[in-house]
Amino acid sequence: MKFDNIKTLNQRLKKNKSKDDKDYFNFLKYIEKQKIPTTEIIFQFPIYLGEKNLARHIQFYELFKKVQNLSGHIADVGTWKGSSMIFMSKLVKILENNSGTKVYGFDWFKGHVQGKNDKKEHQGKYKSSYAELKKNLKMLKLNNTKIIKIDLVKNLRSFFNKNKWLRFKYVFIDCGTEKVLENAVPLFWSKLLKNGVMILDHYNNPTSPSESYIIDSVIGSNSIEKFHFSDHPSAFIIKKK
Ligand SMILES: C[S@@+](CC[C@H](N)C(=O)[O-])C[C@H]1O[C@@H](n2cnc3c(N)ncnc32)[C@H](O)[C@@H]1O
Repeated sequence: MKFDNIKTLNQRLKKNKSKDDKDYFNFLKYIEKQKIPTTEIIFQFPIYLGEKNLARHIQFYELFKKVQNLSGHIADVGTWKGSSMIFMSKLVKILENNSGTKVYGFDWFKGHVQGKNDKKEHQGKYKSSYAELKKNLKMLKLNNTKIIKIDLVKNLRSFFNKNKWLRFKYVFIDCGTEKVLENAVPLFWSKLLKNGVMILDHYNNPTSPSESYIIDSVIGSNSIEKFHFSDHPSAFIIKKK
């Protein structure tokens, strides 16, 4: 599995334009040189975590609270190494321990395949290890979590046909390629409960050029909202109609 390191930091730093990002990435480079033990970094994580990443997870939490009393499950659509999914699994473990709510992570673990209307730079990115994610879930004892290893373009409809009972209250769409969005968004929308939330990592954002029009074509007159404190995820929809 590929890990972020000083080389990937340098590449990302070159692309980053905001002063805050540059300052934070410089801090990260300084931290890398310190060779601080992993355990120290994890136990003292607020020192090291960037504000953008923290804001992202506050969003997940705020949206989770909005649907906590609904009866559906949670879907992480595009799971990669498991970061967003495992955050949701831990929220369920902390806040809904006896509820029976399950977290479903959907991925094929092969990374992005670029279609004609997708951004070139994502081709081949986000490949990860299914075995490693399974091992992490086992060691963390996150029994509330299931990984569904499928091609979201070819096999999602048959997965839902086999699991007709399955309903979601919280769906995070984090796979910004046109083919996946075209196939997966209508199916997940149809399985989302009234008052459930669909969260979009790249609505109204050039990194996923097809996301806005595909979402607009599926959600009818429901409002597209965002939090004022974060742009990533960039939008969410509470399904009213
Ligand atoms: C941006 S990553 C997900 C990141 C993750 N949600 C997180 O926050 O860490 C997108 C994921 O979509 C997956 N993906 C892309 N095309 C797919 C397809 N056709 N079927 C299933 N998964 C796919 C990739 O393998 C990748 O892991």
